[in-house]
Amino acid sequence: MNDLRSGTRTLEYLSGFGNEFATEAVPGALPVWQNSPQRAPLGLYAEQISGTPFTAPRAANRRSWLYRMRPSAMQRPFARIDNGLWRAAPIVEAQATPNRLRWDALPMEAAPADFIDGMATMGGGGDAAAGSGFAVHIYRANRPMADRYFYNADGELLVVPQLGRLELHTEMGVLEVAPGEIAVLPRGVRFKVLLPDGQGRGYVCENYGALLRLPELGPIGSNGLANARDFLTPVAAFEQGDRPAQLVTKFHGNLWATRIDHSPLDVVAWHGNYTPYKYDLANFMVINTVSFDHADPSIFTVLTSPTETPGTANVDFVIFPPRWAVAEHTFRPPWFHRNYMNEFMGLIHGEYDAKAAGFVPGGGSLHNCMSAHGPDALSFERASAAELKPQYIADTLAFMFETRLVCTPTRFALDTPALQGNYDACWDGFTNHFKP
Ligand SMILES: [Fe+2]
Repeated sequence: MNDLRSGTRTLEYLSGFGNEFATEAVPGALPVWQNSPQRAPLGLYAEQISGTPFTAPRAANRRSWLYRMRPSAMQRPFARIDNGLWRAAPIVEAQATPNRLRWDALPMEAAPADFIDGMATMGGGGDAAAGSGFAVHIYRANRPMADRYFYNADGELLVVPQLGRLELHTEMGVLEVAPGEIAVLPRGVRFKVLLPDGQGRGYVCENYGALLRLPELGPIGSNGLANARDFLTPVAAFEQGDRPAQLVTKFHGNLWATRIDHSPLDVVAWHGNYTPYKYDLANFMVINTVSFDHADPSIFTVLTSPTETPGTANVDFVIFPPRWAVAEHTFRPPWFHRNYMNEFMGLIHGEYDAKAAGFVPGGGSLHNCMSAHGPDALSFERASAAELKPQYIADTLAFMFETRLVCTPTRFALDTPALQGNYDACWDGFTNHFKP
């Protein structure tokens, strides 16, 4: 059996975003002053994984040194396996659409499916091969990845659980994430996913572009939104006991697999700043108006993948968490809008204040560039007449993957019975009250 140092679930974490961490599961496994000594301690092999070009500016540069039982290079050739419902951008099997789309929660898979088998791509934009763009997936898993490991060469995976916890066993250690938390699995880092609750469903944003980072704070100052100290990175942990396993990779949009004769999670110690991490969305310090009118939803940005164009994200991860609404003389839900950016939204729990019905936990919506949307008729009526006392919006946790690139839905997303056929009807019935 594979033994795991952190298998008790009393997991330890290191705090901070983008820090240079150092952690060892066995004392003395980290070299004292050199990254690549002639002989690494305890008979280990030294291996570097770089998540950015070597010459990326220091603030953006990410790499880690792993001290492991066997080099990652020790493997047989990969061979193609079926992609299932994974797709990569550009999505060519269907057309991008100006129509507003909304989905019910995808039903849990009846057939056995692990985190990889159970991944269904809903849409994407840009080009994985060009290192720009994103894909949106929904996973439905009811089987742990036993003796199966995965890494994604196309980008990092931002995982947003909606139902059930995930236990992410990675080369750098173990992260447990529950609904209300997120995790980021970096490009190339090998991992497997266990399901402490027997099943799991959630959203994934696959980011082909610049690594997600904390947004600049501008006049907000040095505190607020997501604070660096609340991001948690695992301590070193390793699997022991060799047994055959399958290693799957997603490379250039396709799934490939090979056999290995041992667990790739055999890293005894590591140091560096290229790591998986998790974040509890309850730690997000929400900023909003305390007088009147709307701030743009960019004030709710947790993480951003910037592009070379200032202020124009490859993808932003934005949340709408529990918060006080206190604005006076104001229509408090989002007003009607048409935006440059493209919005895929999901709901983790509760209700979203711009929709009275139809936008459900585990479901999703897509509003592409300049596609008009906003409150439905019932939400409009309610919010226009509401008494504007301070109100705590308690049971809500919606999020948005917001991107400069149009999101093309997949064939699966357009054909699934979960696609609502009458979404446009929620904007019916706005009568003309204008009296000159
Ligand atoms: Fe919107």
